Amino acid sequence: MALVLSGKRELCGNLIAAVMGDAGVERLFFGEFFRCEPFALVKAEGLRPLAETWDLGGFRRLLACRGGYLREEATACGDAFTYSLAGSARGVRVEGSIAPSYWSREQIGEAAKLSGFRAETPDSRTVVAHSEGFYLAVKLSAPARFEVGEAEVRFEAPAPLAIAAAGAKSSSAALSLAEEALRDPLALAGRRAEQLSAALARAPPPPARDRRVRELWRYCWYVLLSNRCSVDHPALRKPFTMPSKYVFRHQWLWDSAFHAIVLSAYDAEMAEEELLNLFHAQKPDGRIPHEIFLSKAMCKAFWGVDDYSPWTTQPPVLAVAVERILERRFDEGFAKLAYEALARYDRWFSERRDADRDGLAAYIDYLESGWDDSVRWDGARERFALDPGRYRAAYPEARMAPVEAVDLNCLLYLQRALLSKLAPRFGGSAEAWKGLAERTAALVKGLMWDERTGFFYDVYEEDHSKVPVKTPAAFLTMFAGIAERDQAERLVEHLYSDFWTTFPLPTVSRDDPKYDPTGYWRGRSWINLAWFTYWGLVKYGFDSAARDLAARVVELMAEGPTCNENYNSATGEPLGAPDFGWSTLILDVIADAARRGWI
Ligand code: GLC
Repeated sequence: MALVLSGKRELCGNLIAAVMGDAGVERLFFGEFFRCEPFALVKAEGLRPLAETWDLGGFRRLLACRGGYLREEATACGDAFTYSLAGSARGVRVEGSIAPSYWSREQIGEAAKLSGFRAETPDSRTVVAHSEGFYLAVKLSAPARFEVGEAEVRFEAPAPLAIAAAGAKSSSAALSLAEEALRDPLALAGRRAEQLSAALARAPPPPARDRRVRELWRYCWYVLLSNRCSVDHPALRKPFTMPSKYVFRHQWLWDSAFHAIVLSAYDAEMAEEELLNLFHAQKPDGRIPHEIFLSKAMCKAFWGVDDYSPWTTQPPVLAVAVERILERRFDEGFAKLAYEALARYDRWFSERRDADRDGLAAYIDYLESGWDDSVRWDGARERFALDPGRYRAAYPEARMAPVEAVDLNCLLYLQRALLSKLAPRFGGSAEAWKGLAERTAALVKGLMWDERTGFFYDVYEEDHSKVPVKTPAAFLTMFAGIAERDQAERLVEHLYSDFWTTFPLPTVSRDDPKYDPTGYWRGRSWINLAWFTYWGLVKYGFDSAARDLAARVVELMAEGPTCNENYNSATGEPLGAPDFGWSTLILDVIADAARRGWI
């Protein structure tokens, strides 16, 4: 499957990934251990790009500058990356740096301390840096001027120049990988093209005839498969898919559930594997953690804990993924593992997120909801700020007033329904799980529905009053099959009025005074919500709405194509992280819509 794009400036290998800038390599990452920014900046007068291409082999560009031309080539494969700059121009220099990962440039010193960063320059063309048991070796084709600091190494060398960077768990392995890449960059580019095309060749064929949809299809498979990585790591023993190699460089809970849903159509075993680290990370009390960092130092810097995971979970989409996988291929061993993990996880929700014991669970942390800064939580955060103690009595870790969220409980309903299906096989009580599932569904309908406005709302746990914010989380009541027919009809009216923007399904109704089409979870459009909604509409037989939604989203993603983290809901402009894993859920929508003849 060929894939040639212009304007694409990223290159990823396994843990290594680079972003090309207007001049040279703007950023280079090795997992969460190193973040070199800039990595190799070209210093030349009057520099301007003339033409560039990106394909499975890598990135090539022609640059013009005062006094001549320059040819750039960059590629990445496995844990090695090479960059070369050749040409006739004189007086051109390349400046770069090697540093530990940090959240902000100001934190670089602290990051160096937390991660045990140190660096050596064994000769005038080599640097080897260490961070948390991982090494990054950088080799240059010409002698460079190095400045080794406590928290960063800077270098400068004249062009023409070739640079190779490679990461590994030992200094000697990193060095020999870098040496090999420097010696033979073409071989690296060839291996990359071969590996990616072999992986893409196993993807299902594009189901649509339209050329642009076919390109989007290939591109999304490229995104998902190239975000996958494997690492010899205590908390991440199995291969997994990073949400984005350029921004989100570890494993997240609901992201991986979405990845597994898409992967189930590619290779059921890979889809199972995507979930194994998460099951393995389950805590003794049953919680499956929010995320598993590669770097303990990063986890510490962000959450202040000495662990690879924080104290939170994320939306329980796992059961939806498990059910998808089991439909594709029922593996007894995987089913048992998943049943046991999900049963313990579900009990954790009852014990630790349902203080009023009514059967509806609550989010107590905005980040736990996956909808970070959503308008949904503004009121809960205000209530909490007024009197934290009041909420901390029941939930010592709370960071907002507990909210019984509509999507959370729809997902728990589905989890409980799946557990009731699997229970007889694995010695559990189908009746007990079914009872709990039905109770959850009845409460969603009983407490969250508002007849006057015809919509489902989150409710505060403390008084069951409604959070007066309309969001597409309500459409999960259709995905879960909880909404009554007449409720679903009213939801579809809202779909076309409140949520029908240029790029549909903004994360808050467009008539909300706080709606901001570029606000992260405050009005941008996200593909996971389009996916839930699409399947909800299909389930209730709202074919034309499902078709409208699929067609509109596919059309806008096909421009480019792009597979971004989210989109400006008013203009359709791609925003957030590029090459974002769960946005490949559009593949599942395309496959279904094409089967129905809608695309
Ligand atoms: C952001 C999102 C969250 C997601 C994570 C990784 O934090 O808000 O929902 O899981 O990125 O993609």
